[in-house]
Amino acid sequence: MTPESETILVTGACGQIGSELVPVLRKLYGAEKVIASDVVPPSPALENSGPFEKLDVTNRQEIGQLIHKHRVKAVYHLAAILSATGEKFPQKAWEVNINGLYNILEASRELGVRQVFCPSSIAVFGPATPRVNTPQDTVLSPTTIYGVTKVAGEHLCDYYVRKYNLDVRGCRFPGIISNETLPGGGTTDYAVAIFYEAILNRRYTCFLRPETRLPMMYMPDCLKSIIELMAADFSRLRHHSNFNLTAMSFSAADLAAEIKKHLPDFEVEYRPDFRQAIADSWPESIDDSAAREEWGWKPDYDLAAMTADMLRVLREKQRQGKLKYP
Ligand code: SER
Repeated sequence: MTPESETILVTGACGQIGSELVPVLRKLYGAEKVIASDVVPPSPALENSGPFEKLDVTNRQEIGQLIHKHRVKAVYHLAAILSATGEKFPQKAWEVNINGLYNILEASRELGVRQVFCPSSIAVFGPATPRVNTPQDTVLSPTTIYGVTKVAGEHLCDYYVRKYNLDVRGCRFPGIISNETLPGGGTTDYAVAIFYEAILNRRYTCFLRPETRLPMMYMPDCLKSIIELMAADFSRLRHHSNFNLTAMSFSAADLAAEIKKHLPDFEVEYRPDFRQAIADSWPESIDDSAAREEWGWKPDYDLAAMTADMLRVLREKQRQGKLKYP
């Protein structure tokens, strides 16, 4: 748990998770204590709610200066390139995901940061991993550069725990579904786009096949997991940077059918692209019993509850003329 007096730095604060985590952290710890940072300019909402600093995580010096200037004690390191963008720009994915993480860990070690959160992903798994109820400790042989960076990242984080007693924590997020900021460049992004298209056009062309089943989670559960994992008693943790985590699993067709219960004239067409191969290399369901046992993980939203809430929130935004897509 971050004591009230400590300053928190969030990297990637303008991204899908960051844009919703920052307000939660500001509410918990005070707006001035949470420094939002990103390489891109902030939204007015983010900029007006507390301090913002421009930060490129591949620049070690910038990170050091920021941590020093604000006497940062906890870092939520969310800046990363996701799976689909990674396949288009593998070198950039390595640069941001590996060198960026290394810079954060090194600066944290040198400047006395107490706690670091770094998300991992179901992308650490690959075709050789058991696909159903994927175990916590299993084969990690990803076929995407994103997965390669996440496996290396998990090991690097755990190394800093062992070698330097730096308190680094993280979980392997499944696809995250949210209604505030669109995800960028992931393979699970279809499960967000489908809601916007359903509301705006009643039609969606899906880039995965209908039977493609993947683990997923609604944003309120994602935020809850970050806060709870960071607050967990360190001495109870046997894992640190690599907790399996899930809330639900569904196929593209399952999600379309659930949305159709609310919008009966909604139609989906399936035109798989290069992201199909990525999805096919990932698990369809996850065993997250280690997270449940070690820090009490328990999700609140299943497919039906998530779908109903997504549609409620997005329709409300539409009524207010605030539904922005893409
Ligand atoms: N949502 C991510 C992606 O699709 C998985 O971590 O890349």
